[in-house]
Amino acid sequence: MDRNLALNLARVTEAAALQAARYYGRGDKNAADQAAVDGMRRMFDTVDIDGVVVIGEGEMDEAPMLYIGEEIGKKTENSVKVDIAVDPLDGTTSIAKGRPDAISVVAIAPRGALLHAPDTYMDKIAVGPKAKDVIDINKSVKENLEAVRKALGKNMSEVTVVLLDRERHEGIVKEIREAGARIKMISDGDVLAAIETCFESTGIDMMLGIGGAPEGVLAACALKCLDGGFQAKLKPVDEEQKRRILEMGGDLNKVYDIDDLVKADEVVFAATGVSSGGLLNGVVYGPNNTAKTQTLVLRNESGTIRYIDAIHRLDKKPEYAKWK
Ligand code: FBP
Repeated sequence: MDRNLALNLARVTEAAALQAARYYGRGDKNAADQAAVDGMRRMFDTVDIDGVVVIGEGEMDEAPMLYIGEEIGKKTENSVKVDIAVDPLDGTTSIAKGRPDAISVVAIAPRGALLHAPDTYMDKIAVGPKAKDVIDINKSVKENLEAVRKALGKNMSEVTVVLLDRERHEGIVKEIREAGARIKMISDGDVLAAIETCFESTGIDMMLGIGGAPEGVLAACALKCLDGGFQAKLKPVDEEQKRRILEMGGDLNKVYDIDDLVKADEVVFAATGVSSGGLLNGVVYGPNNTAKTQTLVLRNESGTIRYIDAIHRLDKKPEYAKWK
């Protein structure tokens, strides 16, 4: 894949973030999500790819745009055929409530490389490069904590685990506390949480727990580029989800590691901050119709970790002009 695709992906997530950030703290998560979808979908039309959405906004009958199976991109004779994973706004509630760490995310890999996952749950464990070979999702929380602690050369009281603040995680929380490690509880957004494990500056050593399966595939794309460790198991909540997983070629008993979720070395990932957090600044609107964005762009082939700080002149972008 052309390495300049990475820059185009940044444009795609910037567009989504610029639209969604207008809804920060305005209490309307659906409008925020719709704005992100619109921005992302429009920008995708300018990118020279022949893409199919495999991780998207939902099934065709429930999402008018960026639905699973939708064909997007410019599609010229020379376009490369790719799988696309999107989450135009990971953290819809965070934006509606004015909370941190909402992002817009995209990943691209060669056609057929990404796991096709319906909108179901996934049990996940994510760590940074130093601990990637010691995790085992089939082992207890305590065993994983001990292995990660050792790999990182830390005391248990210095190890920090991030997880979604959900009732279903009560058991995990108990085990982490009994082991003596620290917990960062987040209200939403486990793609960014998984990525944080690969940046020592965040102080996050491990992500655990059940979140969305689509978000799991996106996290795996990022962690592949960052040389982190990620394992997952699909967790359907009903028979219909089970049926859809099997129909899409999923395996309900399998432990998926990064290479099962992303079956190619050519992966490009981009995430733009919508609301500011530990790893990315959110959209900041300035005077005279300007806005700043910060985007993390990753390419597995080169291993480059690139931050793109952009100042947008919205008056020069007619597609944004109607947003006031
Ligand atoms: P949305 O922005 O689509 O609401 O997703 C936010 C999120 O927190 C994800 O990051 C996470 O994987 C999932 O929701 C967890 O689902 P639930 O809120 O049902 O526990």
